[in-house]
Amino acid sequence: MPATTNRPFLGGNWKMNLRLASAVELAEEVHAALSAIPLASKVDLVVFPPACYLQAVGRAIGHGPPSLGAQDLSAHLDGAFTGQVSGAMLDDLGCGWVLVGHSERRHGIGESNAVLRTKLERALAAGLKVVLCVGETLAEREGGHARSVLVGQVRAGLSGLDRGVFGSLVLAYEPVWAIGTGRTARAEDAAEAHRWIREEVADLYDPGLAAATRVVYGGSVTAENAAELFSRPEIDGGLVGGASLKVDSFAAIGRAAASRASHG
Ligand code: 13P
Repeated sequence: MPATTNRPFLGGNWKMNLRLASAVELAEEVHAALSAIPLASKVDLVVFPPACYLQAVGRAIGHGPPSLGAQDLSAHLDGAFTGQVSGAMLDDLGCGWVLVGHSERRHGIGESNAVLRTKLERALAAGLKVVLCVGETLAEREGGHARSVLVGQVRAGLSGLDRGVFGSLVLAYEPVWAIGTGRTARAEDAAEAHRWIREEVADLYDPGLAAATRVVYGGSVTAENAAELFSRPEIDGGLVGGASLKVDSFAAIGRAAASRASHG
């Protein structure tokens, strides 16, 4: 698979953290720090705050950077779905992006590949760009099943989609055992998983589309390890949890992503 020179992507997934005041404060700080990064305009920089703070964070970041994203959306359009938020509602709030299939929803809440596929289609139909998360558990990796798990998730998520939507998609490889554990995948293991993911896209579509599809790494990315991860040709950027909650670490990871743009 040829090395990619895709536009880097960096997401900060704030998960269920912060309060209104601290979310707005972090958004203002992140906006100032990312705006000062040379080449920031060559990177898709996105924050994913809790749904209830989207509007306030959106006001704080203005036209960005970063852009605004949501952590989840409903699989339904409208109607009697208590507590759910639709893609159109996220669009109303100024979201450009949404996560689909984060492991804390796949494994934590039990969302199936079929539900996630519906969410992905709903998001695209609402005009949102999608970060589709895939990743194996520790037991699956230790059992030698990592590749087949990733292939299954990618196939269920992407097969049969119009190839025109791939410009609105980012795939995030997030090994479940590396999320929030401080145990980062070795860069060579992450790169290998990214190759498996692209090979599946190539099987479903063709190698050109696979090379042009952005695949980013998530799982204990820090200011210290981002540059090594992002130096791999297969790794188009990152999806960051804990380290996105501090402006200094997120900005440092942003600089690592931007330096990939300068090499690209
Ligand atoms: P951590 O960076 O905290 O491991 O979280 C990764 C993640 O789940 C991003 O979506």
